[in-house]
Amino acid sequence: MPVENCPKCSGTGWVVRIADGLEVVDRCNCDELTRVDRYTAKSGIPPLYANASTENFLLPKDNPIAQRGLASVMLTVRTFAREYPVVDKPGLMFIGETGVGKTHLAVAALNGLIQRGFEGIFFDYQTLLDRIRSGYDRSSGSMDKEAYRLALDCEILLLDDLGAHRVTDWVEDTVASIITHRCNFRKPVIVTTNLPAPGNVSNSAKDSLADRIGTRAWSRLNEMCKIVQMPAVEDYRVRSRR
Ligand SMILES: Nc1ncnc2c1ncn2[C@@H]1O[C@H](COP(=O)(O)OP(=O)(O)O)[C@@H](O)[C@H]1O
Ligand SMILES: [Mg+2]
Ligand SMILES: [Zn+2]
Repeated sequence: MPVENCPKCSGTGWVVRIADGLEVVDRCNCDELTRVDRYTAKSGIPPLYANASTENFLLPKDNPIAQRGLASVMLTVRTFAREYPVVDKPGLMFIGETGVGKTHLAVAALNGLIQRGFEGIFFDYQTLLDRIRSGYDRSSGSMDKEAYRLALDCEILLLDDLGAHRVTDWVEDTVASIITHRCNFRKPVIVTTNLPAPGNVSNSAKDSLADRIGTRAWSRLNEMCKIVQMPAVEDYRVRSRR
């Protein structure tokens, strides 16, 4: 079976090429992919993170406190990816500043689960909302079924950068319905956010995650996710340039 979102054949199973000025149609090789390859192709993981794993997550050498903190976080991810679904909470929530490796580790968990035969989808939070909203605006009343359904029903959902940007009633309702549905059916979510948990807001100018996604969604997430608080480390992109 061809892969639904195959970048080469768009799911048709056929690729057109030009040979000696003539169009030739070949069978796309996505037909022959293994299940792991198929799930990887469908996962929507951005190319930058395609190979993210706990194996290539590097620990800072010059900062023993950060090193210990990140090592412990990495171990949590490795254990979750290895032991799921036999875990206390069927999800992970990475909280921390920008550039500390939240998305890397969240994808590492998802990649690990895909390797074990589970299926999962990566959604950037803002993109997911935009896709749902654009479908919603177009056909009055019915949302972008595909994106919305996928977020509700896919086996494992990775929501990256949860709570980024705008807050409206619509956003709050949509996020709450996705999270509540997944929580009710014990369907795992892996989320990342750079917003603090409520009650943990050090800078009063900053919203908490609950302020952005609503208290309902926050409390369900809290129920179903193990909180992974990222230690304070320098932005990896700065760190790695030295
Ligand atoms: N400890 C690390 N080891 C290797 N690469 C890392 C590490 N931390 C971050 N990166 C890489 O740095 C970039 C930024 O990290 P990212 O996970 O996007 O941070 P965040 O999501 O916390 O903003 C990514 O390309 C990521 O793969
Ligand atoms: Mg990120
Ligand atoms: Zn294909």
